[in-house]
Amino acid sequence: MDILPEWESIDPTRLRGTLLVVGASGVGKSTFARYLYGRLQKSADRVAYLDGDPGQGRLGPPATMTITSERIGEEPFQDQGAVWRTFVGSSSPAGHMLPVVVGSARLVRAAQEAGIEVVVYDTTGLIDPNRGGTYLKLAKINLLRPSILFAIQRDGELDPLLSPLLGSRRLEVVKMPVSPSAKNRDLPSRRASRAEQFAQYFADAEAKILSWADMAVFPSPEFRLNLLVAMEDSDGYVLGLGIVQQITETSREVTLLTPLSSLEKIDSIQLGDVVLDPRTFFDQPVRARG
Ligand SMILES: Nc1ncnc2c1ncn2[C@@H]1O[C@H](COP(=O)(O)OP(=O)(O)OP(=O)(O)O)[C@@H](O)[C@H]1O
Ligand SMILES: [Mg+2]
Repeated sequence: MDILPEWESIDPTRLRGTLLVVGASGVGKSTFARYLYGRLQKSADRVAYLDGDPGQGRLGPPATMTITSERIGEEPFQDQGAVWRTFVGSSSPAGHMLPVVVGSARLVRAAQEAGIEVVVYDTTGLIDPNRGGTYLKLAKINLLRPSILFAIQRDGELDPLLSPLLGSRRLEVVKMPVSPSAKNRDLPSRRASRAEQFAQYFADAEAKILSWADMAVFPSPEFRLNLLVAMEDSDGYVLGLGIVQQITETSREVTLLTPLSSLEKIDSIQLGDVVLDPRTFFDQPVRARG
């Protein structure tokens, strides 16, 4: 990892509250956020990392967001200790901004209720004002009230967001340059690595029959073949994901391919907005949700 002098000059002992890391795709947000989290873990013990990217997250399968206070190393992350996860239903925040914003607030609150004082929030690269990126980031800022916004930019692309914020005292803006080692990946390679992440997640999955007569289905039980769904606990956090394999309307049963071993704690099923090809694990959108 290329550690910039601007990173080294950060004093982690004065960081409090939520630290939002923003920037366009591939500028090094996640690399910086992980570095910052590592430094914070050495200086404070009540720190959490929010992986807010449903497309290329490291801490959970695509279409979800995860917060944890566990160590994040190079090896694949295994759920252990305190981990909360919400379902976005799609790998893209575009068309799914409400579950992204609501999910981020719920994850930060869950961590704070468990005693976390500092949250490093690694966001998605959706910053384009013409695609709602500016409003998405402003909504997060107004809801989460971060103390610092770490803004990683090449060439003024964050100015539509930063210009008004720099005139406001509601948070501190810290501008960061882009590391020369940062590489943006194109859409086909992002799609392929997402399929790889789904494939890993479902590697040990088995077919399980669930009766939806006994549980809530959000928004309504309109199951379809290969739809990605989340099984959630009574607080609405993700227990596991599933892929719809068979639907029996008469007995109100659905067969899901899922790695979730116990179906005991399931309170509800949340329908996603993508179908997954069960052989290739490539995702295909079926609808948007605002
Ligand atoms: N400081 C750095 N030193 C070495 N490699 C880096 C650095 N910053 C970024 N990279 C590399 O560039 C690529 C993109 O970095 P990273 O995933 O951190 O960006 P991102 O902004 O989080 O991207 P995305 O928008 O896809 O989430 C990765 O392969 C990463 O290893
Ligand atoms: Mg990232």
